Amino acid sequence: MAKASTITIDGTAAAGKSTVAALLSKVLGYLYLDTGVMYRAVTWAVLNQQIAVSDEAAVSELAEKLTIEVTSPWQTDGRYYTVLADGRDITWKIRSQEVEAHVSRVSSYRRVRTALTAQQRRIAAAGSIIMVGRDIGTVVLPEADLKIFMCASAEERARRRYKELLAQGKSANYEQIFTAIQQRDKKDRENPVSPLVPAADAVMVDTDKLTIEEVVARLIELSG
Ligand code: DC
Repeated sequence: MAKASTITIDGTAAAGKSTVAALLSKVLGYLYLDTGVMYRAVTWAVLNQQIAVSDEAAVSELAEKLTIEVTSPWQTDGRYYTVLADGRDITWKIRSQEVEAHVSRVSSYRRVRTALTAQQRRIAAAGSIIMVGRDIGTVVLPEADLKIFMCASAEERARRRYKELLAQGKSANYEQIFTAIQQRDKKDRENPVSPLVPAADAVMVDTDKLTIEEVVARLIELSG
């Protein structure tokens, strides 16, 4: 079997996709692109320019104009990559609660998806890439060599997030986290433009009973 050059990883929010992809990209020496970052960058720019999130035409226009770059980290503050929007470093800004609250709406707009999909295809054209998102195996790169769909129960994802927050010395409420995860799942599933579904030929990886290392080992095996 030839080694997979284009690998897609889709799946539910907080299933561990980003962590696994970052580790896998190091082992394989591939580029890693987390496409959620691009939807977050557009959302940040919308809020920063005080455009109403409900104004679909204005949001779409901005998405078509904005230059988003995802580069190697060049900062040692725990980041996996650096995200630039029109040259400005917004790596941590796209993790804000405000972006979190509006990114679903922004990513439901057809023209926003079309603009970002075109950029994602250009980035993937050179191969040796692991692209992470919700619709990469189904819409963006349906011809990819290896398609993974990662999932985990809402309970397990909430437990992981809860532990992560406590480990960072932050306060956390399990019930709140669990409810938020269920709401995000619902929004992702019901996204009218690109609902979250596995590609027909995706390999399903249920991470409930696997450690990160076990998932990475499984993906290395699958990549050939
Ligand atoms: O994976 P994440 O939490 O960073 O994603 C942020 C948002 O972007 C989330 O609401 C889903 C959306 N998204 C999308 O619609 N399509 C993608 N390929 C990646 C993310």
